[in-house]
Amino acid sequence: SRTHRIAVLAGDGIGPEVMTESLRVLDAVESKFGFTTERSEALVGGAAIDDGGHPLPDATISACEASDGILFGSVGGPKWENLPPDTQPERGALLPLRKHFGLFANLRPGVCLPSLTHASPVKNELIPNGFDVLCVRELTGGVYFGSPKGREERDGETVAFDTMIYKRSEIERILHVAFTAAMGRGKRLVSVDKANVLASSVLWREVATEVAKDYPEVELEHLYVDNAAMQLCRRPDSFDVLVTENLFGDILSDEMAMISGSLGMLPSASLGSKKEGSDLYFGMYEPSGGSAPDIAGQGIANPIAQILSVAMLLRFSLGEADAAQAIEDAVAKAIDDGYRTGDIATGAASEKKVGTKEMADAILANL
Ligand code: NAD
Ligand code: IPM
Ligand code: MN
Repeated sequence: SRTHRIAVLAGDGIGPEVMTESLRVLDAVESKFGFTTERSEALVGGAAIDDGGHPLPDATISACEASDGILFGSVGGPKWENLPPDTQPERGALLPLRKHFGLFANLRPGVCLPSLTHASPVKNELIPNGFDVLCVRELTGGVYFGSPKGREERDGETVAFDTMIYKRSEIERILHVAFTAAMGRGKRLVSVDKANVLASSVLWREVATEVAKDYPEVELEHLYVDNAAMQLCRRPDSFDVLVTENLFGDILSDEMAMISGSLGMLPSASLGSKKEGSDLYFGMYEPSGGSAPDIAGQGIANPIAQILSVAMLLRFSLGEADAAQAIEDAVAKAIDDGYRTGDIATGAASEKKVGTKEMADAILANL
């Protein structure tokens, strides 16, 4: 039978809790669709710091390198946030992993299921059928990685600085990903920038307009990021695909997650280039949200973002599209049937209020 190798990096906070449930779902589709995975579990983030002093041990990188794709939980938390910045879980493990594997394209599908519109803070009459927006976030450039970056003393006080920088080639390749995605969906792309202020955005807009010539069927619109943030919560169902630079995408995708019901619903795929001779990508798959220290350890986190990240892993890195679809259908049915973790519950009598494990049980029952 088909065998795939995956690296499993659960991390901190709710990471291990939701990871456990997502692996049960993976077990179920493996037996149903006749393939297996060899799973290599490795430490990352705060868990790795506590174990050996480093947030991204060499053994973890090796496990990832030996895999067809990485399933990631989340990292970080109050316990480690006073360490020197570069040794913290986020800057010492998550960002270096993205950079090391060249995972420049971050896909975040913001889907508000029609049966979940009541959990959205958007007025329900505006989204009668829910909505489906794909955010394509540039992930290895911009102000996250630009140099110089640092702090120093100037004229008797402390200054700190970051650099937002983009190369033409970095903008081009993410725009191609976004246009290609738009071709496979509604053929509408909104490019988000701040070209009225930022030089990097002026270049971004220029390149977007040029790349658009390769995709004459796709309608391209440019929006300033402030307007995009506003339009997104006013009329989410007017969007098809959004493409934007790293920091804008970080912020807009949390907004997108919330208007689709909860941050706990939004998975993500971080992709590099295609594997040689294949249509599959090496990638890392993780919930868009974090380690949620405020609810960790209580068994109440929503496991759906992690479970849908497994579906994205199956589709983009393992070539198991049928299994991916089955997971997505099983999640939609559990929502349709009224199962709700606390983050998407509204108190309606028809809802079945559940914890992390029970939500996964409800999804498993549909497989
Ligand atoms: P967060 O995303 O962890 O939490 C924000 C809010 O969303 C919290 O109220 C949390 O309870 C809720 N939430 C998130 N996921 C949920 C889920 N699955 N079910 C129910 N509710 C959920 O953001 P934060 O509190 O700003 O950050 C906490 C830590 O996580 C920080 O250390 C941060 O750096 C880190 N972080 C890590 C990642 C990652 O590993 N990819 C992403 C974002 C934040
Ligand atoms: C995300 C997270 C990360 C980011 C942090 C934890 C570095 O917020 O994946 O959205 O900003 O990219
Ligand atoms: Mn984020």
